[in-house]
Amino acid sequence: MGLTREILLRASRSEWLAAQLTRRKFTQRAVRRFLPGEDLESALDAAGALRVHGIPTILTLLGEHVKQEEEAEGVTRHFLETLDRITERGYDSDLSVKPTHFGIEVDVEGTCARIKRLVEAADGLGRTVAIDMEDSPFVDDTLDIYRRIRAEHRNVAVCIQGYLFRTAADIESLLPLGPTIRLVKGAYTEPRDVACRGKRALDAAFLEHTDTLLGRLADGSDLRVFFGTHDPRMIDGIQERADRLGLPKDAFEIQMLYGIQRGLQLQLAEQGYRVRVLISYGEEWFPWYVRRLAERPANVFLLLRNLLG
Ligand code: FDA
Repeated sequence: MGLTREILLRASRSEWLAAQLTRRKFTQRAVRRFLPGEDLESALDAAGALRVHGIPTILTLLGEHVKQEEEAEGVTRHFLETLDRITERGYDSDLSVKPTHFGIEVDVEGTCARIKRLVEAADGLGRTVAIDMEDSPFVDDTLDIYRRIRAEHRNVAVCIQGYLFRTAADIESLLPLGPTIRLVKGAYTEPRDVACRGKRALDAAFLEHTDTLLGRLADGSDLRVFFGTHDPRMIDGIQERADRLGLPKDAFEIQMLYGIQRGLQLQLAEQGYRVRVLISYGEEWFPWYVRRLAERPANVFLLLRNLLG
């Protein structure tokens, strides 16, 4: 792993830095590239702007590591209200949630019940709820929650991180459920015995799992596949493999983050691929934003440019 990425990922966990930098105008200006605003209205407006280009969205309130039940309940209520707002506006917007935002660190059962309530409400509205994957200590509980909710509802997806050594086995174990899987490279700092490191290894792992998932789509298995990547090389790899297997362009979804590779998002949508953009909003953007910097350390220069005015 590059030194800059390692330093940034460590910085993303610093409460002191978060308190210092979130208040600063230059950080607020720089974060706007990835975050349309801190409130739900700004996220909905951004979803409306993408809708004009035929691009549907996913909304997520930022926040992690909630330890109090009351706070986790508040987060659940917020997401339930978001579903209502999406319905009012008539948008094709799904939701994405982080297990630690719903309290998984202190209460797995309560977290499962809260996410299930959200999935149930979303089911009635024809929306999907994706469960994000966080650091490796949460993978077992997150997959357990996914399996339990998937046993009752189809409209729930789970994120799988290509960099984890366990991922091939996890995909195999999920396949019999008729899952919806979002494959990503993985955004956290992990020990060497848990996840591969370095761009070449991450890319190879992502493409290996892409082969498995597209192969299963081609043989008619019951599953939905989302690819969460901005990497043109990964997207070429997905397209080539899908063409070779005779899969149509709408057999899977390519998902990207708001503000990243905007041109490519539009281009893929125009070519007939299903593209969906994840819009994050909320006040707790610091750790999430620094993970975005770590993905592309060149973005640190954008931050510094804002500092210099
Ligand atoms: P990579 O990081 O190798 O970048 C390839 C190219 O893409 C770069 O050269 C650049 O051109 C562009 N790019 C990538 N990131 C950029 C950035 N921040 N700014 C500007 N350009 C950028 N992770 C996780 O661990 N758990 C999760 O639940 C999720 N969920 C999730 C959902 C969705 C919809 C997406 C798109 C991503 C995630 N991720 C995630 C994050 C994921 O693991 C990964 O860190 C990022 O997608 C970056 O990896 P890429 O595949 O884009 O390639």
